[in-house]
Amino acid sequence: KPNLIVTPHSLFHIQVALFCSKKSGLQVRVRSGGHDYEGLSYVSHSHIPFLIIDLFNLRSITINMDEESAWVQSGATVGELYYAIAKKSKVHGFPAGSCSTIGVGGHFSGGGFGTIFRKYGLASDNVIDAQIIDVNGMILNRTLMGEDLFWAIRGGGGSSFGVITAWKIKLVPVPSKVTTFDVSRTLDQGATTLFHKWQTIAPKLPPELFLHSLVGVTNSASQEGGKTVVVSFSGLYLGTPENLLPLMQNSFAEFGLRRDNLTEMTWIQSVLHYAGYSIDESLEVLLRRNQTSPSFKAKSDYVKEPIPLHGLEGLWKMLLLENPPPFIFTPYGGIMSEISESETPFPHRKGNLYGIQYMVNFASNEDAPKHIDWIRRLYAYMTPYVSKFPRQAYLNYRDLDLGVNQGKPWYEKAKSWGLKYFNCNFERLALVKARVDPGNFFRDEQSIPPL
Ligand code: FDA
Repeated sequence: KPNLIVTPHSLFHIQVALFCSKKSGLQVRVRSGGHDYEGLSYVSHSHIPFLIIDLFNLRSITINMDEESAWVQSGATVGELYYAIAKKSKVHGFPAGSCSTIGVGGHFSGGGFGTIFRKYGLASDNVIDAQIIDVNGMILNRTLMGEDLFWAIRGGGGSSFGVITAWKIKLVPVPSKVTTFDVSRTLDQGATTLFHKWQTIAPKLPPELFLHSLVGVTNSASQEGGKTVVVSFSGLYLGTPENLLPLMQNSFAEFGLRRDNLTEMTWIQSVLHYAGYSIDESLEVLLRRNQTSPSFKAKSDYVKEPIPLHGLEGLWKMLLLENPPPFIFTPYGGIMSEISESETPFPHRKGNLYGIQYMVNFASNEDAPKHIDWIRRLYAYMTPYVSKFPRQAYLNYRDLDLGVNQGKPWYEKAKSWGLKYFNCNFERLALVKARVDPGNFFRDEQSIPPL
């Protein structure tokens, strides 16, 4: 438990909190939306006395339509951001995550992808300025912090470098209407061959088309009381049904899509759809900040070569043993292949077919070990089919199984997890850390060590 929770209303309050934490030897945890998968924004796994700076009061959003830009404070959620944009314009959006309760602070500093990232890149790729309070309590903008720190906080995670209080982002154009569709197939209906094909087709589709797949378990229609695997393909197209239909008929005739399977909606309605709401719901639901979910453990992978059919069949068998929440398979390609690996700390660009999020839920602490054991075995099973040397992972799907900071030599030991999240960018992150926080004041179980 934290020794103290600070809920600042101003930047001065943050400066005071940093000053006091230094004087009293408390570690600092910064929390924006609180969605960290290992709770690092509000829990210390090392049992070290700490205080939380919770930014939920600092969530103003100021949109400048002339500049097509916005300043967003870190305590805002992406739902609040999407809402604010939609209130100003029907033809602008922002490429960030689907779940509306994610906080801007953690999400932008770790990358942040969503349904239009194949067209516009990550949230962090669309940040043009930022405001950070550094280890000395100084308030710095992009010019004052310098390009190397500005580079580091756009994908290297915020918690190693200071308290990022606001981000200036560029808004992106979206059509006044977009088109969505959803197709599901079970194993009996040919899910395995469809998914096998999806692996190579989805990353090559035009950047305007996002076609991700969710793989879960459902009741079997052919076997009383039995279970089967179901693959749900969900598409969002930045264009009209008339243009999408021939595209899908050429690339995925097996879906058998017709005009009446395609739904036209505004971009903000597609945000509601992917956040799990009905598209007729009032936009105010995007302002809800609280979300209850069961306890879970998640892991991630990147896939560079299609998984062969026998590999998929083995994965399905493991899923049927556990019945976890759907795994999310996110196609890359599009602009993600055009941005260089070192443009920002997020290295997962060209050469990736798709990313995977594995997840398992559990009802109680007593229940946790067997489910966590299952997901670790599944992760081991996937080894031959995913990226290697290093096996890559997504920082925003934080996973302490990859390794934690554990003493000197800090940098060498941290490579176990640092190379997986950042690959060739890890060294540069550690050099930036040494410049801006040589005493390693801002630290947690997976913070960047100074080099
Ligand atoms: P939280 O406040 O927990 O912070 C996460 C990390 O960032 C912590 O280390 C924290 O200290 C640090 N931090 C936060 N604010 C900071 C600040 N202002 N300054 C410095 N450091 C700061 N991701 C994705 O890319 N696409 C998606 O669609 C989704 N969907 C999704 C759904 C759900 C239900 C969850 C729980 C998570 C996701 N994610 C996701 C993952 C999400 O991007 C990730 O958990 C983010 O880190 C969440 O940011 P928060 O601010 O909410 O987390």
